[in-house]
Amino acid sequence: MPKILFIQHNGTQHLIEAEEGKSVMQAAVDNMLPGIVGDCGGCCTCATCHGYVDPAWKDKLAPQSEEEAMMLDGALHVEENSRLTCQIIVRQELDGLVVRLPASQF
Ligand code: FES
Repeated sequence: MPKILFIQHNGTQHLIEAEEGKSVMQAAVDNMLPGIVGDCGGCCTCATCHGYVDPAWKDKLAPQSEEEAMMLDGALHVEENSRLTCQIIVRQELDGLVVRLPASQF
């Protein structure tokens, strides 16, 4: 299974095995990762799954949809590499993906 490295705002690292076909958000929630909420269950309507994708991985991800871009517009602490992790589907090519988490989701 691909592994995803989540780095919390305080620097704590969590290496999580993620099932292919599920979202990065779901992998985090399934593993009770602090810092990812996923309130809407992945419907792209809450932005509580916000994370910063390491720039080295940017080109390996599908581009943001219009819905994701709109939700990120209203999210806190948005940066150039912000993504909604519920919109990133795990696949083998993403093994080693690094996602940093914002200070808070609210
Ligand atoms: S889980 Fe709600 S937008 Fe991602």
